[in-house]
Amino acid sequence: MNVTSIVGARPQFIKLAPVAEALRTAGARHRILHTGQHYDPDMSQAFFDELGISPPAVNLAIGSGSHGKQTAEMLAGAERVLAADPPDWVLLYGDTNSTLAGAMAAVKLQLPTAHLEAGLRSRNRRMPEEHNRVLTDHACDLLLAPSQVAVRNLQAEGLGERTVHVGDVMVDLLLRVAGSSTLAPPTRLGSEYVLATIHRAENTDDPARLVQVLGALAALPSPVLLPIHPRLANRAAEGGLDLSQGALHPCSPLSYRELVAALRGCRAVVTDSGGLQKEAFVLRRPCVTMRGETEWIETVELGWNRLCPRPEDLPAVMEGFSPRETDASPYGRGDAAARVVDVLMARV
Ligand code: UD1
Repeated sequence: MNVTSIVGARPQFIKLAPVAEALRTAGARHRILHTGQHYDPDMSQAFFDELGISPPAVNLAIGSGSHGKQTAEMLAGAERVLAADPPDWVLLYGDTNSTLAGAMAAVKLQLPTAHLEAGLRSRNRRMPEEHNRVLTDHACDLLLAPSQVAVRNLQAEGLGERTVHVGDVMVDLLLRVAGSSTLAPPTRLGSEYVLATIHRAENTDDPARLVQVLGALAALPSPVLLPIHPRLANRAAEGGLDLSQGALHPCSPLSYRELVAALRGCRAVVTDSGGLQKEAFVLRRPCVTMRGETEWIETVELGWNRLCPRPEDLPAVMEGFSPRETDASPYGRGDAAARVVDVLMARV
């Protein structure tokens, strides 16, 4: 079997790692096409090195730009690469512009396409990621769902026949790294710190909203470890905002192992990341999501994630947040990547 993975942004490298390993174990030929959406070394190269992923066969080096320009350039580049050497499967990951561009390039060439992390929905049509998900799911031939909620979302859109429930490959990697990593959490902040990440356009791109979000985090009573995503760095610089005000302790983007260590050591998470909500749940850390909705509703239903759409409500939302223990594993138990490869191989 001959598979091309199309990736471009940090969360996709994390999903790629366990899939690449499972494909290697199965003896498949695997080509990685990097769109170049993320290009800073600590957002891209560091993850290939740390997670032992083979270097991309091709890097389109598209970089940043408006949604239309970025997506269009990726589409043209991916088409060129796929047409020159068509694989048995084109594998797309998650919900970024790289995902949608790769899906469009592949389906127009009539190549078999599979979408990993299919079926997530926020129902928030102002999110670029929501359009990327919906359009990619409706384009692809095979929809690999991480949860039963995702399966039901796809069925409700008439996509049930293309859907297979495989579990979440991010859990595979997290369980492996959390089990083996000896990295210590950052000691300079003591044991009562909050781990926070903010990068979504809805929180960063409106200057007034960004002031409120940073102000709410800065006013927390415990230290806040804040790894800075480039989008946040750019918007804060444009607005002249201080990322070390009050309780904030900014730092560069963390490596995957550093992130897992920081998560293990913290008392709570505040984030707008999709991946971190899930990772907090798997390691049983209370999580506050700075959004009005989440795709990972199981974490909310099980009591480990609380939504906080209004930054000024953060202290009240964090008050007395002590979730009840659970042994639920709605995203699987760490064997999703092997199932992905089985499903692909059975359909070649
Ligand atoms: C993208 C995804 C989002 C995902 C996130 C993970 C889309 C629409 N959004 O958002 O779903 O959660 O990645 O990180 O695809 N930048 C750098 N260096 C980099 C990468 C980006 O400086 O290596 C800057 C760019 O100048 C740009 C900003 O960060 O202005 C945003 O980058 P972009 O890739 O457009 O979107 P993300 O916010 O990273």
